[in-house]
Amino acid sequence: MEALQLRNVAAYCSFLEDNEAEWLVLDGMCRVTISRFYRDRSVYEVLSNKVLPELIQQAEEIGDKIIRFWSAGCASGEEPYTLAMIWDYVIKDKTSNEFSIVATDADNVMIERAKNGCYSPSSIKNLPEEWLKNGFTKKGSSYYIKPELKKHVRFVHQDIRDAAPEGKYNLILCRNLVFTYFSEELQKEVLKRIESRLYPGGALVIGIHENLPEGSATLTDWFAKEKIYRKPTDG
Ligand SMILES: C[S@@+](CC[C@H](N)C(=O)[O-])C[C@H]1O[C@@H](n2cnc3c(N)ncnc32)[C@H](O)[C@@H]1O
Repeated sequence: MEALQLRNVAAYCSFLEDNEAEWLVLDGMCRVTISRFYRDRSVYEVLSNKVLPELIQQAEEIGDKIIRFWSAGCASGEEPYTLAMIWDYVIKDKTSNEFSIVATDADNVMIERAKNGCYSPSSIKNLPEEWLKNGFTKKGSSYYIKPELKKHVRFVHQDIRDAAPEGKYNLILCRNLVFTYFSEELQKEVLKRIESRLYPGGALVIGIHENLPEGSATLTDWFAKEKIYRKPTDG
């Protein structure tokens, strides 16, 4: 309102009615972009110790060599880079499989920050000490993600309300976005799209304080406390 020199909310509403493009501006101002590396440690522990070994075994049984991840609403890259660290520091020695990560966000500023990979101490404070040492280069008070982790993640500017990356995924993380900020109707619509992108037997992780909309999912609880769901193998 200040930028447009409008007096009050009523004046802004009427400006919106007359200027369709303003909706995009408003939409861009409504995003919450907070994230952290290793956010909700227990979730990442279950992913490392239980979910990924099982997904890898399942892929091996059908002769698939690549495990595919999608991080939806990836903010500045904290979530997909945490996955890359888990793979390199926990999983890699136990499998000959490879992995790939696509990370999407509707906010171009976030995508550019993610590609840049520069973080403040508060973003990385949850990470195990060893990973911090191995995964970043410190310059002044900033931490730069190392190129060997960066190379695993492909960042794409995309709005989950009307698009999803091509292909199928073994693991999709959609945390602290759709199931917090969207209407129930939109949650159901997006969930359908997410499910269609999961391989049979694949897993969906939502935020630890989130719930799936009632009566809509074919997914079953896998690790209920960590909000990890699984698509049936015959799904
Ligand atoms: C609160 S952050 C969550 C980040 C991360 N998933 C986590 O849990 O730490 C939500 C992210 O979703 C992005 N976002 C908001 N609306 C979106 C949309 N319609 N499509 C894709 N990303 C969106 C925001 O830009 C922001 O980066």
